[in-house]
Amino acid sequence: MPAAVASQTKTYTISKPPEYSEAEKLLPGEHTLPATWWTSQAVFDLEKRSIFNKGWLYCTHKYKFSKDGDYFLFNIMSTEFYIIRIGESSFKAYHKPSKKVDLTKPVDLVPIHTFVTDQGLIFVNFNLVKEGPIPFDEYYLGLQEEMKEYNFSDYQYYMSYELDGKFNWKTLMDGYQECYHCPTAHPGLNTAFKMNTYKVIPKTNYCRHYAEIVREDISVLKEEVDPDVESSWFAWGKSEKKLPEVRKEANPGGEFDGLWVYLYPTNGINCYSPAWYSIRVLPITPTHTVLQYDIYTKKGLAEKEKKEFVDFLQQVEIEDFDLCELTQKNLNQGVYSTGFLHPLKERGVVYYQTVVGEMVKKHFAIEKEHGKQFDPMYADGTSFASLKKETVDFSSFRSLGELPETSCPEYNWH
Ligand SMILES: [Fe+2]
Repeated sequence: MPAAVASQTKTYTISKPPEYSEAEKLLPGEHTLPATWWTSQAVFDLEKRSIFNKGWLYCTHKYKFSKDGDYFLFNIMSTEFYIIRIGESSFKAYHKPSKKVDLTKPVDLVPIHTFVTDQGLIFVNFNLVKEGPIPFDEYYLGLQEEMKEYNFSDYQYYMSYELDGKFNWKTLMDGYQECYHCPTAHPGLNTAFKMNTYKVIPKTNYCRHYAEIVREDISVLKEEVDPDVESSWFAWGKSEKKLPEVRKEANPGGEFDGLWVYLYPTNGINCYSPAWYSIRVLPITPTHTVLQYDIYTKKGLAEKEKKEFVDFLQQVEIEDFDLCELTQKNLNQGVYSTGFLHPLKERGVVYYQTVVGEMVKKHFAIEKEHGKQFDPMYADGTSFASLKKETVDFSSFRSLGELPETSCPEYNWH
């Protein structure tokens, strides 16, 4: 039964997770992909052709744009493209050629498939084969319906930040897709949500994460240090350090169970009552990944509460980030080979790794059969230059920036 929880302006109906069946409880474990997939350049290149240049990719939300003509320059797996707002819920994406483009004059650009969900989430698809990409609602079957549980129009863009990780994109997904590690790795999250209720349910190219929030005020540890003791060890024996104070405070996670969604291959949309945020994960090299967070807060939310939420989420994210860097060090040194995954507690990891494995292996078989590489972005091998172009006049448009803003030499291998 869905739980209805009152918020300030609207009653939200956030679904409960389905119960596992007896058969599911008896599922055997699955093997991880081989550890070389977290370090190999050949696998990384194949992932680009078979996953990133084939399926739908989340980019941003319509509320990051203020008016028609606003645009961002994005870079995903070294493909640069513009997303331009042409109407309140209408956006177009164009491929940016590798040669220098003079935007003071009208330019001819190849359009890229775009899709804006009912909730304003903007996706692109680089697949330029003649028959077109798989339709959005088939690729993410049921996603739009499920996201209706949350009213995105109650929220507005607040801030963004970026982390630069020395790890493979899958190292992050391995952590994102399970919460086995949460009770030990995330003390804050562990206090805000009942971790024993955490469940990841695979859908079609996305996964829904469920956890019950702690509805009463939660205990927050406040470290109170006696300045005499803290300032100098000469103070030894003068006074004793006070015990840390535990205070009861409102849950920074908000007031209703989260609606958290992993969007294959690398993105996440995490909705709480005070705010929602997206994580856009950009693979740069096999061992380098940029993580970009966009935070949207509830309209009218006090600045103090916005800050508390950002602190709460940044704490969780940095705990994951540190774990990823440690894990990748071991992967780089060949410490891991392959292992078993828990069929239920790591079900999300099993799911996404299976999809990665299937897409990569299927694509590799096609390339082997044809004796050459095949990139869906290059439309069955026809010249990119021969694709149909549209003339775009940027003269009245406003650039909102580049994402990511860092300039990496690795981006320029087209
Ligand atoms: Fe985590």
